[in-house]
Amino acid sequence: MAIQRISSKWAKTKVLLRSQQVSAFIPLTLKYSQDALSNLLVDHTLVYIKPDKGTYGNGVMCVDRFDQEAAVDSSSRRSKLSQTSPYRLRYQTVTEYCRTIDELHSRITAQTKNNLYLIQQGIVLLQYHGRSFDLRILTQKTPYGTWETTGIIGRVAAKNKIVTNYHNGGTVGKLNELLAEHATPAEIARLERKLYDLGEWTAQQMQKEYPRLKEIGLDIALDENLYPWILEVNTLPAIFPFKKFFKDKNVYQRIEKYAIAYGRLSPKKNIKATGNTSKKSGSL
Ligand SMILES: Nc1ncnc2c1ncn2[C@@H]1O[C@H](COP(=O)(O)OP(=O)(O)OP(=O)(O)O)[C@@H](O)[C@H]1O
Ligand SMILES: [Mg+2]
Repeated sequence: MAIQRISSKWAKTKVLLRSQQVSAFIPLTLKYSQDALSNLLVDHTLVYIKPDKGTYGNGVMCVDRFDQEAAVDSSSRRSKLSQTSPYRLRYQTVTEYCRTIDELHSRITAQTKNNLYLIQQGIVLLQYHGRSFDLRILTQKTPYGTWETTGIIGRVAAKNKIVTNYHNGGTVGKLNELLAEHATPAEIARLERKLYDLGEWTAQQMQKEYPRLKEIGLDIALDENLYPWILEVNTLPAIFPFKKFFKDKNVYQRIEKYAIAYGRLSPKKNIKATGNTSKKSGSL
């Protein structure tokens, strides 16, 4: 039987919210509407808007609300503009300033048309050398029927991009290196263990609704307190970066072994995906 893949982010979010253990790591997420937009912007200075069925970071937008008080002394262009236009909308390499929620909503719907989009509490990503980064956790079904987190990789956004996706110009980095200026080695080790658990809890919860699931890739944003927020759960995660970027061969060997056992990779040409999907390399 084919490995289960689920494209609707809304469907997957609803499943995760049913688990008390996992729901604590899900940023507030709603179906996009003008009401949702204005409500979320009351409590959050950053929100993300994304297609329910998007991939590779395509169609993702973000809005940040300018904080008047924080800018009293600033004479930057952004600051001056923001006195009159407090909402900044960004997508691809476009930036637009809006005066009101009405104006912002009409700019957003010019992009979303009639498609279902989600709006999510934004997490201000940590930075590495001036670029935002988040993490991808790979969790797989083992041949023994348990779930095991088999790899974690960092994803660094291209300069001035609001998404970290590899398919949107992002690059890949190691957890230890990306976190070096934000945490001690002991803190990083503790966080890593937590992320391993989080991947496994998430897989167990998803499996209740989707019993033919074999692998997931969690997109995790760390905030300034190193709290891990689950931005989304991919059901066709990319495997190639774990082969390409890790010196430690053992990491990829285990990933490959499990992927062969559940039929994602074929034993001979192991990098060739055998799933019946057009996005063969998977998302990163
Ligand atoms: N709430 C958020 N806060 C901060 N950054 C976010 C948020 N949601 C998305 N992003 C950024 O946008 C990127 C793309 O968003 P997301 O992973 O939800 O969709 P996608 O990558 O298009 O889907 P897929 O991973 O299935 O290809 C994330 O990897 C992250 O860098
Ligand atoms: Mg993603």
